[in-house]
Amino acid sequence: MAMHATDLTPVETQPVNTRFRRIVTAIPVPESLDEIRRLRSVEPLSMAGMPPIVWDRAEGFQVSDSYGNQWIDLSSGIVVANTGHAHPAILEAVRKQLDSRMIFSYAYTTRIRRQLLERLARLAPEGLGKAILFSAGTEATECAMSLMRKHGLNLAPGKLGILSIESSYHGRTLAARLAGGAPGPVDGMARERVLHWQLPLPGGPDSKGFEQDVADRGIDPAKIAGIIFESIPGWTTTLYPAAYMNELMRWAGRHQVLVTADEIQAGMGRTGRMFAFEHYGITPDLITCGKGLSSSLPLSAVIGRPAVMDLASPGEMSSTFGGNPVCVAAALASLDVIEGERLVERSASLGRELDGALGVLAERHRRHVRMRNGAGLFYSVHLQNPDTGEAVGELCDEIVMSCVRRGVLMFLTGRGFFKIVPPLTIDREALFEAVDVIGTVLAQVLESR
Ligand SMILES: Cc1ncc(COP(=O)(O)O)c(C=O)c1O
Repeated sequence: MAMHATDLTPVETQPVNTRFRRIVTAIPVPESLDEIRRLRSVEPLSMAGMPPIVWDRAEGFQVSDSYGNQWIDLSSGIVVANTGHAHPAILEAVRKQLDSRMIFSYAYTTRIRRQLLERLARLAPEGLGKAILFSAGTEATECAMSLMRKHGLNLAPGKLGILSIESSYHGRTLAARLAGGAPGPVDGMARERVLHWQLPLPGGPDSKGFEQDVADRGIDPAKIAGIIFESIPGWTTTLYPAAYMNELMRWAGRHQVLVTADEIQAGMGRTGRMFAFEHYGITPDLITCGKGLSSSLPLSAVIGRPAVMDLASPGEMSSTFGGNPVCVAAALASLDVIEGERLVERSASLGRELDGALGVLAERHRRHVRMRNGAGLFYSVHLQNPDTGEAVGELCDEIVMSCVRRGVLMFLTGRGFFKIVPPLTIDREALFEAVDVIGTVLAQVLESR
């Protein structure tokens, strides 16, 4: 766990007062410590990973506490608020749904669920004509992996294996953790024992191309039912090489292996395309969505080819709160906003400007910046020890905390990189004011070393 997340010592700040940011207290706010400590006394340590500020209000691209501080949010609350926090259209849709007195429906027929599912099928590539709704992204991951295994089992008794990419993230439930995370056992279980294999990061130092990587790990294609990957990995925010993706798709076709694109973080306009897999010109069999799908309330989805989606029998694939009407209302409104405010295009064009600005910073600090990559408003900056080339987790988190003390909100990763993933609605000036703050902090912290 990042030291900076557990350290509750207030640090004095310089007052900040711009159109977008306001900092008037030490951070963490001394008066807020009681609240933070009380929460920590009843919540497991695992929840203490974020900068110690107390959210009171989140609106548009800004987050405020009740002590007079206001931040430009470069985190979208962990890549959720694509249409901005509490968008008026989402608030209105949720209110309308509450007023209708239908706030729960389970798997019974509702008009509103049908509307969202039709819309998702329209958004997805042709042929992906059915979708199912859940609450958490990790449930969508489980569903996709289970459907891929059912598909494999229908072809041959031992065709059950799943492939994924090392150090990805697909959620916290068991199958999701088998797919993601660093190599090695999960809860003491070897992945291979449950027919799961990870491949090295495409384009990374250990990858020699898709087919070679599969062969090098001794994987028998006849035993593989499916492959799941983040369309663009959340931690590198770097596209995979196009040649790798083409090879993967051809191989999957040849061996009757299904392909799932995890769009939970990178989807819904975030990378300058509605779905991030569009960058490669590929069509997966299954797509998982979450986070920015509703920009707010818990809702996730799996969209796929009907023949695959129908592999589970009635009642076998469902979830009590999946497709909750209030969450669905939020998602429909969020999709309206993405379309109406042309946020996919906005993400692409602001992203090009952001790339330029981060390029200048990376060049200025080229000894310390290992890479800065991204697409749309999905960027990360990775720092290194200039002598060893190793990631610098502590230093990077110190930089994030320093930005937080200046009114720019980002999340702590503990892994030597920080992310720039603001709401796609962010005011252009606010975005570049925040990038200027990052520049000032990088200069102060790195040049003092
Ligand atoms: C790529 C990706 N997949 C899956 C998940 C899991 O979603 P949830 O936290 O809603 O279960 C996340 C969450 O961060 C994610 O980024």
